[in-house]
Amino acid sequence: MPAVAVIGAQWGDEGKGKIVDLLSEKVNMVVRFSGGNNAGHTVINPYGEFKLRLVPSGIFHRDATCIIGNGVVIDPAVLLEEIEGIRKSGVSVERLFVSDRANLIMPYHRLLDGLEEEARGGGAIGTTRRGIGPCYTDKAGRLGIRVGDLLDKEVFRERLSFVLEQKNRVITKLYDAEPLSFDGIYAEYCGYADELVPHIRPTDMMVQRALEAGQTVLLEGAQGTMLDIDFGTYPYVTSTSTIVGGACSGLGISPLRVDRVIGVCKAYSTRVGEGPMPTELTGETGERIRERAHEYGVVTRRPRRCGWFDAVVGRFSTRINGFSDFALTRLDILDIMPSIKICTGYRVDGRTLTDPPSSPTVLARCEPVYEELAGWESDIAGVRRFEELPAAARSYVRRLEELIDCPASVVSVGPSREETIIIRDVP
Ligand code: GDP
Ligand code: IMO
Ligand code: MG
Repeated sequence: MPAVAVIGAQWGDEGKGKIVDLLSEKVNMVVRFSGGNNAGHTVINPYGEFKLRLVPSGIFHRDATCIIGNGVVIDPAVLLEEIEGIRKSGVSVERLFVSDRANLIMPYHRLLDGLEEEARGGGAIGTTRRGIGPCYTDKAGRLGIRVGDLLDKEVFRERLSFVLEQKNRVITKLYDAEPLSFDGIYAEYCGYADELVPHIRPTDMMVQRALEAGQTVLLEGAQGTMLDIDFGTYPYVTSTSTIVGGACSGLGISPLRVDRVIGVCKAYSTRVGEGPMPTELTGETGERIRERAHEYGVVTRRPRRCGWFDAVVGRFSTRINGFSDFALTRLDILDIMPSIKICTGYRVDGRTLTDPPSSPTVLARCEPVYEELAGWESDIAGVRRFEELPAAARSYVRRLEELIDCPASVVSVGPSREETIIIRDVP
């Protein structure tokens, strides 16, 4: 069996964690390939409720090997804390491995994330301030420090001293802030190294071997397509390829290996942070969705902006990622709506667009064109078969399939594993 990718189709927080946990039961390996602890993936299962930042959501299945690939940026303090939390809940983390090629988030990355955001003023991105952007900047600028550098303390010492000198120049001269101390960082990271060593591996080889042996590997996406560095609402995006293409470079596998791509869509839209969101509901309806769904960020606890389902975004995501099917989550949240809108196009400058424009200023001026469907106004959390959903809920799902040009394979009606309707075969 092959590699199966699970990719966010909107602005993140679509429920990827729930879907990956659900699908992990039958797979041999679950891997993260991009992002860092800007991600917060909620998993609710018999072990409890978890908000995973770096550890793949397959960790709760004892037969699944979990891998944090080279494309992920690692804050070792966050990873170690997460490992400890999982271990305490009675789950083994012996099957968790981290790529020696993954870049490390260093204290200056977190500091610079904040300083850069403040310097952007009104143009701030609303980042999670976890150091993600500055870490990927250094990776591309060939100033990164990688997990593998921790394996030899002398190598690490030399690399840190070279890089920190340059970073301190930026911190003091450009931002007029206090420089960071070499000794403090060196000692801190040597401590992390000792704890991380048992988990460090050439994970690219491990994933390749698993695929060669015919195992099923689940590729767990982070963030969402509209936060992708190239295809998202640039510059209001994250710093990585969040789309399926990022999985190949973020793991070291051939695109020919990926033969199924599952998009995860929320039944409505949410976004945390700044940037255009055409279907945002700033009034009472948006507030009702936010409160019913507890739409507050997992990482930063900021309120998520809520709006109707944007099929322009959905269709675009299907094309960019080549979704073979999609998982629709949080359909139950719409139980209270007498009627439900779907955005089918954007009106701007006298034209109707059916694809998101690349310019954020044009996107910010886009007015959604809606079609309105009847709501079902009943509790669907207990439904387990598609045919048992109210007719209006089935019509909603079927209309989304048409509009985004992709069949639904899973409909999720609650946060836990069992609150799920399987429409067609999942791995
Ligand atoms: P992720 O980042 O894509 O993994 O998503 P998050 O975990 O950040 O946010 C999704 C939220 O929706 C979490 O609180 C989940 O527990 C919750 N969730 C997932 N699927 C469903 C569902 O079908 N119904 C409800 N009510 N909640 C869900
Ligand atoms: P998961 O995997 C939602 C958003 C931030 C900000 C922008 C850039 O849980 O779906 P960054 O810190 O990455 O430089 O911030 O991206 N963002 C997310 N929004 N879910 C996420 O991850 C996100 N990861 C980053 O809010 O707008
Ligand atoms: Mg999340």
